[in-house]
Amino acid sequence: MCGIVGYVGKQKAAPLIIEGLKRLEYRGYDSAGVAVLQDGRFAVAKKTGRVANLEGETAKHRLHGTHGIGHTRWATHGGVTDANAHPHVSSDGKIALIHNGVIENYAHIKKFLLGKGYTFSSETDTEVLCNLIAYHYAKEPAAANGDSRFVESVRKTLRHAEGTYGIVIMALDLPGELVTARKGSPLILGLGDGETLVASDVSAIVSRTQNVVYLKDGEIAHLTPTTCAITTLSSGTVQTVVDKVTWSIADSELGAHAHFMEKEIFEQPTALENAMRGRFAEDGSTARFGGLNITPGEFRTVDRFMFCACGTALHACMVTEHLIERFARIPVECDYASEFRYRNAPLFRNSLFFVMSQSGETIDTLAALREAKRKGYKVLAINNVVGSTIAREADGGIYQHVGPEVGVASTKAFTSQLLIGAMLALYIGRMRDLSFSEGTEIVNALKGTPDLVRQALAQAPHIKAIAKRFAKVTDMLFLGRMSLFPIALEGALKLKEISYIHAEGYPAAEMKHGPIALISEECPSVFFAPNNELFNKVVSSMQEIKARKGPIIAIITEDAELPAGLADEVIRIPRCHEAVLPIVASIPVQLLSYYIAVERGCDVDKPRNLAKSVTVE
Ligand code: G6P
Repeated sequence: MCGIVGYVGKQKAAPLIIEGLKRLEYRGYDSAGVAVLQDGRFAVAKKTGRVANLEGETAKHRLHGTHGIGHTRWATHGGVTDANAHPHVSSDGKIALIHNGVIENYAHIKKFLLGKGYTFSSETDTEVLCNLIAYHYAKEPAAANGDSRFVESVRKTLRHAEGTYGIVIMALDLPGELVTARKGSPLILGLGDGETLVASDVSAIVSRTQNVVYLKDGEIAHLTPTTCAITTLSSGTVQTVVDKVTWSIADSELGAHAHFMEKEIFEQPTALENAMRGRFAEDGSTARFGGLNITPGEFRTVDRFMFCACGTALHACMVTEHLIERFARIPVECDYASEFRYRNAPLFRNSLFFVMSQSGETIDTLAALREAKRKGYKVLAINNVVGSTIAREADGGIYQHVGPEVGVASTKAFTSQLLIGAMLALYIGRMRDLSFSEGTEIVNALKGTPDLVRQALAQAPHIKAIAKRFAKVTDMLFLGRMSLFPIALEGALKLKEISYIHAEGYPAAEMKHGPIALISEECPSVFFAPNNELFNKVVSSMQEIKARKGPIIAIITEDAELPAGLADEVIRIPRCHEAVLPIVASIPVQLLSYYIAVERGCDVDKPRNLAKSVTVE
């Protein structure tokens, strides 16, 4: 939540910062602001709404300085107002700051600062940080340990701050210097040619440089156009490790598509190819992963897997649970990361933990990882963003390799998580009871996934027409069984996220225990009905809905035949192996929710109240 960008160099800072903020808008879009140090003062422009609004505002301020910070906000403390927008400037006018996170003890710090004569002009928790830094900065002599006074005043402030933060700070009397620090919120430094950047995510940096440093929790960096000195909260020095970003700027651009969500839906065949490239054993009977950091022998001792995640990623875990239990016959438990971190669950001695997270920054998932590690368990991560906090703190893991996902509603990241989950189930299954021939059958099926997804995508015009027909409804049910129950949950989540239609996902047979009360001519049900051993049972559930005049949208495999007149709309998907079915079945519901949202005039890529990466509790 919240996107932050800082720049110090030779170019005009404001246009570069605004360009970066546009790429970070998926992290929050309640308000945006920029502050530039120029002519001996902070020139600040802030505006509620999108970064585009801010752009108009900055024109009035003639921002020409080469040193600045900017922020796009997802509101936590304080309403969506210009005054609450970042950057904030200390009441003595000496310090300007942007913040991503939550300062939990802000009330206590505020009381202290009010006693010292500092004043506040917003309702945010953030303003206490900027006034407390100003307080320490005013008192601080040149530091004895060689650190600058600027860094030391930030360090002193952060020792008192409880909660989470990624912050970037400017001091009025230090043109050409930024200080940045993090705990729980991501920050990446970009080391360019005579310029240094800092941002919440590489997408705001890659147009300037591919040389990046991933700042870790508890670290503070002092930046100038040509230097980057990193220390810790406890004054220890840190070796700067420079990584190369492999993403290019084109990966996070819209191209010919109307929305990132549309682009990412249609990118899925390629994304899936990338996610499985080089990950099958030479004998063609199993998967292989380079970074698990766990031996087959250790895997064999596991008698229970635990998966934790949030949102869409949790749905991918639930499908993975189904496949591991089917292929490897090992019990799997899935939990909301936000619940697991507090519920103190009794755990099996030989449990192995997985966390799944596209961003690798979701605070609840990170906390679940830390809780499991604290209890002495190994934790592996399935994650898309290379170098993310979760990737770095996990004992090993599997990268999704699908490139940046910009649309807030996850699509290609989700299907690649499903694919990796299926490959993992195969890998573990082949260590247990799956035979060579069963293994090769699954490998062949998985290799065919991109083509099957292409075939499912070809239904787009038909699904668009269905979306038009149902775009005005206020409720919708999504019903599926077995590994398609999580896809029903995901279909409902997608629809409510981007079109604001109330939607619920249920196991199809469970529908009669409550949700059936919602059924009417105005409440359609989307059924997943592949031609498998439960097909007739699902058809019976459809009959129960039909008897109550509920419209039915049936997603069936091409070899299935429904009783005439039962479904109002039918979407056919290719017949496929059970390991692949959840992936292929996801495509129609992604398209359906996308087209419904477009039809309703919703802002698909930036749904209200949501953020792609939730780095606050
Ligand atoms: C937010 C997003 C969801 C996402 C979830 C988990 O809630 O809006 O789309 O599924 O976070 O994100 P992660 O990056 O951990 O997969």
